[in-house]
Amino acid sequence: MLTVALPKGRVLRAVAPLLARAGADAQLLLADDRSLVREMPAAGLRFLLLKPDDVPTYVDYGAADLGICGRDVLLERPVDLYQPVDLEVGRCRMVVAGVAARPAPTGVPRVGTKYPRVAAEFFARKGVQAEIIFLQGSVELAPVTGLADLIVDLVETGATLAQNGLEEREEVARISSVLVANRAAYKLRHERVRGFIEAVRPPPRPPA
Ligand code: PRP
Repeated sequence: MLTVALPKGRVLRAVAPLLARAGADAQLLLADDRSLVREMPAAGLRFLLLKPDDVPTYVDYGAADLGICGRDVLLERPVDLYQPVDLEVGRCRMVVAGVAARPAPTGVPRVGTKYPRVAAEFFARKGVQAEIIFLQGSVELAPVTGLADLIVDLVETGATLAQNGLEEREEVARISSVLVANRAAYKLRHERVRGFIEAVRPPPRPPA
C-alpha cells in the first residue's frame, strides 16, 4: 500500500481527478462521511484526509509516503521533503492587504496573519520593522476592527478582500498545490512512488 496524505476541503476536490489517473476512486475520495482514511486495496492506495497544515508532518515522519499541500504551508514550515511536481491546481496568491484607500501606517505596522514566519521574513527583507499578530482564520477582520494595520493572507478571487473593504498592496508569493514525497520512501520504494508521481503529473502544456 502506498499512503498519501491529502488536505481536506477545496484542494481535495481539485486533485481528485488527478489522483484518479493513479488508480484512485474519486467518488470514494470525495464521499461525504467522517472517515479519515480512504482505502483502495485493488489500486494499492490508502489516502489520509488531514488539515492542510498537517500534511508535511505526516510525510516528514513517514506516516505517509506522499502528500499534497499548498506552497503556502511549505513556506511557513519548511520541512526536508522531496518536492517533485507542481500540480497546477489550488492556484492563488499570498498578498499584503490593507483597508482600501487608507494611507500606509506611520511607525511599526501591525500585521495579522496565519503565516507569521513568511510575513516576518517578507517585512524583514524589505527592511521594514513590523509587529506580527498570529491569527487562525478570518484574517480580513483584523484591519477592519483595528486589531492590525495590514494582513498577509491568500487571495484567490479577491472577493473576500473586496467584501471586507480591503485592497491588495503587494504580492508576497504565488501559490499552488504541490506533490511532496518522504525522502526515504522515494529511495526505498522508488518504482512504486515514481509510478504514482508520473501518473498524477499534469500533462505538459502545448507551446504558446
Ligand atoms: C481563504 C483565504 C481568504 C480567502 C480568499 O480563506 O484565507 O480568506 O480564502 O479567497 P477569495 O480571494 O476567493 O475570496 P478560507 O476560506 O480558507 O478560510 P479562513 O478564513 O479559515 O482562512
